[in-house]
Amino acid sequence: MKRRIVLPVLGALGFALVVALVLVHIADAPSDVSETPHADIHPDAAMIERGSYLAAAGDCAGCHSVAGQPPYSGGRKFDLPFGTIYGSNITPDVRYGIGSWTDAEFIAAMYRGIAKDRHHLYPAFPYTSYTKMPISDVLAIKAYLFSLKPVSVPAPHNKVIFPFNQTWGIAYWNLLFNSKRRFRPDPSHTEQVNRGAYLVEGPGHCSLCHTPLNIAFVPRAGKEMAGTIVEGMRAYNISPDPKWGIGGWSDADLVNYLKHGFANNHGAAGGTMAEVVENSSAFMTDNDLLAIGAYLRQLPAQPGTVDQREPSSNSVRLAPASFELDAGAKIFVGACIGCHGLHGPYTARGSNLLGHPSVSDPTAQNAIYIMLHGVDLKTPNGRIYMPSFASSYSDEEIAAVLTYSGDTFGTGALRVTAEMVRTVRH
Ligand code: HEC
Ligand code: HEC
Ligand code: HEC
Repeated sequence: MKRRIVLPVLGALGFALVVALVLVHIADAPSDVSETPHADIHPDAAMIERGSYLAAAGDCAGCHSVAGQPPYSGGRKFDLPFGTIYGSNITPDVRYGIGSWTDAEFIAAMYRGIAKDRHHLYPAFPYTSYTKMPISDVLAIKAYLFSLKPVSVPAPHNKVIFPFNQTWGIAYWNLLFNSKRRFRPDPSHTEQVNRGAYLVEGPGHCSLCHTPLNIAFVPRAGKEMAGTIVEGMRAYNISPDPKWGIGGWSDADLVNYLKHGFANNHGAAGGTMAEVVENSSAFMTDNDLLAIGAYLRQLPAQPGTVDQREPSSNSVRLAPASFELDAGAKIFVGACIGCHGLHGPYTARGSNLLGHPSVSDPTAQNAIYIMLHGVDLKTPNGRIYMPSFASSYSDEEIAAVLTYSGDTFGTGALRVTAEMVRTVRH
């Protein structure tokens, strides 16, 4: 009698195990024949140079470097809901970096998120985007990384809670969410739009910040570039909607923002976007930045978040007498006016707040974040700096000066309370 139950149960479990293993095998398998192992390529100077450009376009330095340490030596921290992980050392150090990796092993990481020791990497490493890059681009990046000086420092170990520390489980996630497909140009689009699509969806992985993610941390279909909050900052709607997105931006505005970190009447890049500009878009050619713009402009317009139309010109409220009345105005004159001015010219690069979405965002997400963290953005074209005011002002004072800034430079939608500052501070 017992055997009559045990055998079918064992059989069912065995079957489930086989299915599970087959699925992992499918998930981990190379996507096409071009990916099968072959002898390593010997790069020439031109390949290394191309790799340097592509590594910038892929923002590898942004996630694999920390301030004060050699680039690509790892240690950048990522706080995830289930723990903390760190960008790896990807210098060619044999012990702590990727110095012993073959071309095939590097490709497996970039296309399938599988490390040299075969464990699955967390998708915070955007291999789901890099999988769209052709092999020639991926190997050019490897050639560039291998041309750098090896740095013999280990990156800190990931600290992740159970069950998320069982990285084999990521194979199932990959099965569902990693396409393992290379980018294919759409023949109905211009060459420029296709180039932009490749840069945005492939190396640039813009949608991992600018598109709302679903419960599995995957960009939601149909919400491309609609904006969302990542690492404490709101990555704004950059769909072509004229009111909510970048529809009202000129090509020159977009190129200036991505190349120099700011654009007239749209403000400057702060927080994580400052890092993207500093490590990535500042190095891209104008033609590639224009291609990114051309691609964004033909996506469906998405509604929502920050009204980006003409800021109300409230400068009249700045009659000197009002400084006596308004606590926010007083702080602004004391601590902000030197850089932010009232009518320009502005003393600090990129400090023109007129039209910056952060002074019109009713949630005040980025305005509070920047007040607490400051900005330090070094681009090849100059430095953009704002100190942190976290310890100099109370929550009430930060609320007052930001509300004042919103009334002066924005649409008047920014109304900050001490409670909102407290929530971001903690
Ligand atoms: C958004 C952040 C981010 C970006 C951008 C990024 N990486 Fe990573 N990468 C990570 C993280 C985090 C890990 C570690 C994941 C883990 O421990 O599971 C990682 C791991 C890796 C690994 C595996 C290293 C090892 O020792 O196992 C390689 C190789 C790698 N990245 C290469 C690159 C390259 C090349 C680029 C640029 C094209 C790049 N990464 C861009 C976050 C990033
Ligand atoms: C790591 C997350 C992250 C990535 C990746 C990222 N962005 Fe951003 N982006 C942001 C944040 C945050 C802001 C808001 C910055 C601020 O408030 O100063 C922003 C702002 C912008 C803006 C200005 C929008 C406005 O209304 O002011 C543009 C344009 C933009 N990003 C384009 C891009 C493009 C193009 C890419 C891909 C090449 C990209 N971003 C990748 C986080 C990101
Ligand atoms: C040393 C010069 C400097 C001082 C002083 C300064 N700022 Fe800034 N601020 C900047 C620069 C440069 C930027 C552009 C970078 C950016 O947009 O984040 C900026 C950006 C901002 C932003 C936009 C944040 C975003 O989302 O990117 C706000 C809001 C702001 N400042 C408010 C203030 C207030 C309020 C004060 C006074 C308490 C102040 N700043 C003092 C230089 C300064």
